[in-house]
Amino acid sequence: METPISHEYVTEFNPQSYLRSYYTGPDSEDRFVTRCMVDALRTMPSDLLTLELGGGPTLFAVATLAPYSREIHFCDLLPANLNEVRRWLENEPDAFDWGPYIEMTLEEEGLSATPANVAHRAEEMRRKVTRLLSCNALDPAPLGSTTQTYDLVVAQTSLDAMSATIEEWKQVMRNVSDTLVAPQGRLLVSLVSGTEGYSVGDKTFPVLPLTVDDVRQGYIEAGFKANTLQIETMPAPDARDYVGLIAAVAQK
Ligand SMILES: C[S@@+](CC[C@H](N)C(=O)[O-])C[C@H]1O[C@@H](n2cnc3c(N)ncnc32)[C@H](O)[C@@H]1O
Repeated sequence: METPISHEYVTEFNPQSYLRSYYTGPDSEDRFVTRCMVDALRTMPSDLLTLELGGGPTLFAVATLAPYSREIHFCDLLPANLNEVRRWLENEPDAFDWGPYIEMTLEEEGLSATPANVAHRAEEMRRKVTRLLSCNALDPAPLGSTTQTYDLVVAQTSLDAMSATIEEWKQVMRNVSDTLVAPQGRLLVSLVSGTEGYSVGDKTFPVLPLTVDDVRQGYIEAGFKANTLQIETMPAPDARDYVGLIAAVAQK
């Protein structure tokens, strides 16, 4: 059987347009997602082997994950996204400026966002991201033949972007749980709720409008322990065309 793939992304997604549309400076949603990561990470060991899945061209999550990770592997469906991330890691002069997002992360951690602290965190991010990998989470083996599993897998607004139906969402959750999350490992996700798509310029990309119950069900059916599941929600600010954000984390 042919492996499903997110066709809209392969043909239409432009990393720079996406960054220009959605990363114009940290907003209340970025703070919500970052705060959920900070709170969850504080309950975990600080030497995690971490995978960011569907990270796109973004490094805001890596800013939060770095202090808790001994190594971070970063994967996405699109080589163009990985290339955008590589350009920042290699300090190319015209790479995206993640400085304001690093400042926001430090603030959410209760640290002072001085230039020295921002530079230190950026150096830590560059040191800890050791691998950029192609992945397709719709495939039962998202990272191909590798048998590497992770203490923590983080997927920010990516699992809902790649799943067309509830069945596909549950399948993606199982693919990730079965092959990427280590025994006792954790999966942390954020999802946009109450919309069926988002725009980048004149292109629209589908989103599966999941409810909190769908999220709970997806985790349980993928083998995560119900008593470890934590779900937080945030209503969207007025001007948005979606209802809100859901953040969840659980342990296998
Ligand atoms: C809405 S973007 C989220 C990007 C980033 N995590 C963020 O929070 O801004 C969705 C991401 O999922 C990736 N993606 C789409 N289908 C995928 C698949 N089948 N496997 C892995 N990643 C996929 C896209 O390339 C894109 O980077």
